[in-house]
Amino acid sequence: MPDRPVKKVSESSLDNQQYMIFPDDLNPNGTVFGGTVMAEGDKIAALVARRHSEQNCVTACVDSCRFLAPGRQGEVLVFNASVNRVWNSSMEIGVKVFSENYKTGEKRHIVSAYYTFVPINEQERPVPVKYGLQPETEDAKRRYRQAESRRQRRLAEREQN
Ligand SMILES: CC(C)(COP(=O)(O)OP(=O)(O)OC[C@H]1O[C@@H](n2cnc3c(N)ncnc32)[C@H](O)[C@@H]1OP(=O)(O)O)[C@@H](O)C(=O)NCCC(=O)NCCS
Repeated sequence: MPDRPVKKVSESSLDNQQYMIFPDDLNPNGTVFGGTVMAEGDKIAALVARRHSEQNCVTACVDSCRFLAPGRQGEVLVFNASVNRVWNSSMEIGVKVFSENYKTGEKRHIVSAYYTFVPINEQERPVPVKYGLQPETEDAKRRYRQAESRRQRRLAEREQN
């Protein structure tokens, strides 16, 4: 691992990012289209990757996307995203999405996913992430530990394709 300065998870994490569900966000069942949630998650993860690395980053991989419950019209999607771990030239960003009914205040965890981002140079080639990561909380330390096995699985899948 390169010798580099470290940043805390909290320096780049984004919590409580809200997205109002509109009628054109719905699938034929009348619940939120999964692609909308994934795309919004990608944008928020990209912001986190940029805030952490201070570099221009691209999405290399999205995995473990779990749709746990539907979001519905009239609710607000609430995104929380943070860097779980940094390797040489890649970072895992975890995104957790809730759907909140603003009338009742009910909030449900609807989606979780992991986005791998890679900083690139002007030739669009990968470069090392400028900052390492310091997980501060128990949750951040757990995510940091668990991220390594997910990376190994991703790299193994990459080899196979
Ligand atoms: C992402 C991209 C730059 C990687 O290029 P590459 O030639 O495969 O580069 P490398 O093999 O050197 O890999 C670079 C880093 O990405 C990681 N990586 C690449 N593919 C990966 C995958 N499927 N899963 C996890 N990590 C991956 C590598 O492990 C490496 O990180 P490390 O140094 O921390 O180990 C290239 O594939 C690309 O440009 N993809 C298109 C990106 C894009 O358009 N995204 C959507 C819009 S933002």
